[in-house]
Amino acid sequence: RIVYLNGTFLPIEEARIPVMDRGFLFGDGIYEVTAVLDGRFADNEAHLRRLDRSLGEIGIPNPHTVAEWTAIQNELVARNNLTEGLIYIEVTRGVQERDFAYPANLAPTVVMFTQAKPVRANAGLAKGASVITVPDLRWARRDIKSVALLAQVLAKQAAVNAGANEAWMVQDGVVTEGASSTAFIVTEAGELITRPLSHAVLPGITRGAVLRLVAGNGLTFVERTFTVEEAKAAKEAFFTSASTIVMPVVSIDGTPIGDGRPGRLALQLRELYIEALT
Ligand code: PDD
Repeated sequence: RIVYLNGTFLPIEEARIPVMDRGFLFGDGIYEVTAVLDGRFADNEAHLRRLDRSLGEIGIPNPHTVAEWTAIQNELVARNNLTEGLIYIEVTRGVQERDFAYPANLAPTVVMFTQAKPVRANAGLAKGASVITVPDLRWARRDIKSVALLAQVLAKQAAVNAGANEAWMVQDGVVTEGASSTAFIVTEAGELITRPLSHAVLPGITRGAVLRLVAGNGLTFVERTFTVEEAKAAKEAFFTSASTIVMPVVSIDGTPIGDGRPGRLALQLRELYIEALT
């Protein structure tokens, strides 16, 4: 596998990050994940805009223009013969003797790699995803796609330990979002609900695309918070992310959602999203 590190394409075994990289020492960096379908990027401009925003919010200069990022991504996809999977970008503040505060003009570290994996033909799709709920232990700026992901690591592992596929994080009784996804429910009245954007959640790129599809197809949605109880009583539930597109949820904490099978709207939105891309 060929990866990109600070201007160079090289075999992954030869790529080395210094011990004093602030991403390693402090989680002082941000990342992005874009899906690749049929060799094409899904919503890449939006991902690169969010990358720029995340960097700006923590004061790391964006080392590349959109055209430069895209050129590197294209070359990485070509060098790895990637037709379907993910492309990962990480930018850390850079390398410096360990100190919490940082000097001006540090050169950011840029790492990029691809992961070949089925995105469209997700093996879990026929059955749907099971979700557990966990307390949201994260910091107060979840809108920044920070590489400091310890709470999400623990949440996801708790899901795996419970035999589930995703963890929905809960604060004050309401669902914030999935460990690595945006949470949606559909009420018996047919209302599609997801949380409004704020510092409490990552502004999901797939979330935005799905809401545009919903509006474009005459369906309605409501941006508001919802409780775990509401989610368990919902007609449908699903989550969205670059890596899962739209994934129907069939149970929450063991409670079946709807008839316990993947929901119609979730599957329809998934198809619409894939159609719009390919
Ligand atoms: N995660 N919320 C959180 C906390 C996430 O980590 C992600 C994505 C999302 C969905 O965002 P998007 O639709 O832009 O992928 C929401 C990525 C896929 C990851 O960490 O691998």
